[in-house]
Amino acid sequence: MKNELLYEGKAKQVYLTDQFNQLILSYKDEATAFNGKKKAKMVGKGYFNNLISAKIFQYLAEFDVPSHFKKQLNDTEQLVERTTIIPLEVVVRNLATGSIVQRLGFKEKTVFHPPLVEFYYKDDGLDDPLVNDQHALLMTDITREELNLIKNSALRINHLLQPYFEKVSIQLVDFKLEFGRNQAGDIILADEISPDTCRFWDMATGESLDKDVFRQGSSNLLTVYQKILARLEAIK
Ligand code: TMP
Ligand code: ASP
Repeated sequence: MKNELLYEGKAKQVYLTDQFNQLILSYKDEATAFNGKKKAKMVGKGYFNNLISAKIFQYLAEFDVPSHFKKQLNDTEQLVERTTIIPLEVVVRNLATGSIVQRLGFKEKTVFHPPLVEFYYKDDGLDDPLVNDQHALLMTDITREELNLIKNSALRINHLLQPYFEKVSIQLVDFKLEFGRNQAGDIILADEISPDTCRFWDMATGESLDKDVFRQGSSNLLTVYQKILARLEAIK
């Protein structure tokens, strides 16, 4: 039922299936950072991200968060509902680190109460610039109401994920979401949620358990992704 390749990104491939409304996401064994400037092949990375993202989407489904996820098919693939991705990276921050420290000068670990929601326009040529609400409305096809829905949904997902990760001694520092429009015209959560797209800090030691170890070259990516999967598998 897997048909031709529809799209290939840095970390995943998207395949058509026999059903127009269903796509297969295939996670690649490829790590990239800094808009693809740093790159490495890593056998097993696709497996970890597929399983971790599937677990997180299944957890969110228990709370009726509308998403594209249907089911995990095998070690590296999942079946998802077809959407057209809204070209916005929706970032939620609980603590200041990364680009907000670099760009805006916030002190490392400043607590954001309420959590901060930011939009970045997805365009590799422009290096995914930070944009405001008005830019987002001008540069995409979403309405003001849909923008508010995306913001509220991102905050709700943060609210659901924080205690989920705290159970296994992981602090959810920040993360990136993408939303898509399905065939019915509704906006739903899409893409992946994984150590590629989140910052996870060990609550006991403070160590990074996410793609920052690859960005900074500080530790083995596969070792820390394995740790995240093992902890999530221990829940319930
Ligand atoms: P940032 O501090 O680099 O802006 O990253 C904020 C969060 O978004 C962090 O959890 C990593 C995630 N992220 C992505 O998933 N993709 C990206 O291209 C970037 C820049 C960040
Ligand atoms: N996801 C982007 C890339 O792979 C940037 C990053 O995560 O650092 O190029």
